[in-house]
Amino acid sequence: MEKNTQCKPAEPKWIREGAHLLREGKLVVFPTETVYGIGANGLEPEAVKSIFVAKGRPQDNPLILHVASVDQIASLVREFPLEAQKLAEAFWPGPLTLILPKSDAVPFETSGGLDTVALRIPSHPVALQLLKEADLPVAAPSANRSGSPSPTNAEHVWEDLRGRVDLILDGGATQIGIESTVLSLVGTVPTILRPGAITAADLEPIIGEVALGSGVLSPLEETEPSLSPGTKYRHYAPKAQVFLVHGTGEKYAEFVNGKREENIWAMGFEEDLSLLKIPTVSYGREDDFPEQATKIFALLRELDHRGAGEIYIHAPKTTGDGLAIYNRLLRASAFQEIYV
Ligand code: TXA
Ligand code: MG
Repeated sequence: MEKNTQCKPAEPKWIREGAHLLREGKLVVFPTETVYGIGANGLEPEAVKSIFVAKGRPQDNPLILHVASVDQIASLVREFPLEAQKLAEAFWPGPLTLILPKSDAVPFETSGGLDTVALRIPSHPVALQLLKEADLPVAAPSANRSGSPSPTNAEHVWEDLRGRVDLILDGGATQIGIESTVLSLVGTVPTILRPGAITAADLEPIIGEVALGSGVLSPLEETEPSLSPGTKYRHYAPKAQVFLVHGTGEKYAEFVNGKREENIWAMGFEEDLSLLKIPTVSYGREDDFPEQATKIFALLRELDHRGAGEIYIHAPKTTGDGLAIYNRLLRASAFQEIYV
């Protein structure tokens, strides 16, 4: 059933209305410092189910519970180990999601049937205020239709979810642009299930060695039990065919300049622009990962609007700060990589 979606500026009056709607079991989209989230009461199975319907998301893909303060977490987990406490102190509020053993208070609808729960305190002032006023753990995946790029502004949300949610709080463009780092604290070694702005190098001084989940750089097999079910679906994908091209600026330019078909686009670094002779967009300087993070999802949407048939992206660095960008672009390209 089509909803009468309201899109309002994220001012105190509308944040209050959003909190009220969340308490009534409704769907409210709000900005976080990473991407926009589509929120519902995370302890209410019916409200949580409506998120999956609005997004068209597979039901076994678990959601992150967002809270305003660490005190709210005690009732949601079976244990809150010392590592989690240290990480909370260092990085919350902020773009880090922790996976811990869930308590019975968290419904299986929220955890996608898993015995664990994902938790995060976002730092965006609108998100924090909304969570405080709602006084509930809010389940919130990225506010895009399942499979399309995550939304970094309210126009993206409107495009994907108009008629499917009750309220969109417009807080302008998000600051980081890619989703939070997801870190599992359930196994023997803390494991990054989804890389983000907070990297292994940021985490290791606080909790020691961190492992990289097998889904970060490869598609998980259908049959492989997935630690982070979100990683097994094709993600962030525009309608165009996307290819990730590894090589120097010169080799990349030589390769894409040889393409003569229509509707072919290059998505390269700022430094590549002068070398490229086909339609091109830049996703930032080669070494500026924060800038790249703010641009990649919006550019993939924009190229869809421009009717791109094929997009050749100059691959970023695949390690360190580049890993999170590489991970998103790998998924957008459905793992189609070219080495030149
Ligand atoms: O930055 C973000 O994290 C944004 C904003 C809105 O907070 N949210 C977000 O949610 O990206 P979503 O649902 O699009 O991605 C959550 C990821 C998925 O890959 C999911 O599979 C994983 O976290 N996840 C959630 N709960 C999990 C659990 N219990 N165990 C393992 N992975 C989990
Ligand atoms: Mg998502």
